[in-house]
Amino acid sequence: MTPRSVHIVALKRSQIPEWQRLRTALWPHVTSEQHRKEIVDVLSDLEFNAVYVAVGSERKLHGFVEASLHLTAEGCHSSPIGYIEGWYVEPEKRGKGIGRALLKKAEAWAIANGCKEMASDAEIANVLGREAHRALGFEEVNTLAHFRKSLKDNPA
Ligand SMILES: CC(C)(COP(=O)(O)OP(=O)(O)OC[C@H]1O[C@@H](n2cnc3c(N)ncnc32)[C@H](O)[C@@H]1OP(=O)(O)O)[C@@H](O)C(=O)NCCC(=O)NCCS
Repeated sequence: MTPRSVHIVALKRSQIPEWQRLRTALWPHVTSEQHRKEIVDVLSDLEFNAVYVAVGSERKLHGFVEASLHLTAEGCHSSPIGYIEGWYVEPEKRGKGIGRALLKKAEAWAIANGCKEMASDAEIANVLGREAHRALGFEEVNTLAHFRKSLKDNPA
């Protein structure tokens, strides 16, 4: 159960700066300019994207979930699929059910949009993120290592 003082709601425009603050905490390698561009992209297509936020006292945001509709996803058999693009709760607010409540909203949105499956991803090294997914009913369908090689100095 989420703390009584925390409410999960669909993102309002006035909450965009707070959402960007949390996005930056989840994806610190992404530049502010790129965050702003992605925010515009997400909000310009709310038929295919959804953002829910956890609002605490004094309107501060403690977490968010971003979901979208995918036609296919690793290990899934139906279409469309609700896809978790981002899921984050501030470190001091974790372990209190906020992540679970955010995910539940995203799943309800996916069901309302005709989805029968939900999919997501997490870095292999993100043990906590993987554990939280499993605790909330996700099964791990693949662990994939990605590789790169410069072809400039080192051709095959
Ligand atoms: C993943 C995350 C959003 C979960 O948020 P949260 O508010 O702590 O989640 P909840 O308190 O609702 O817990 C959800 C489930 O995860 C499990 N869980 C949470 N923290 C855990 C931990 N430290 N170790 C093991 N399991 C844990 C719980 O067992 C819980 O299941 P339960 O309700 O049956 O006990 C949060 O840990 C986070 O922001 N992590 C960093 C970002 C990230 O990894 N995102 C996911 C990949 S993009």
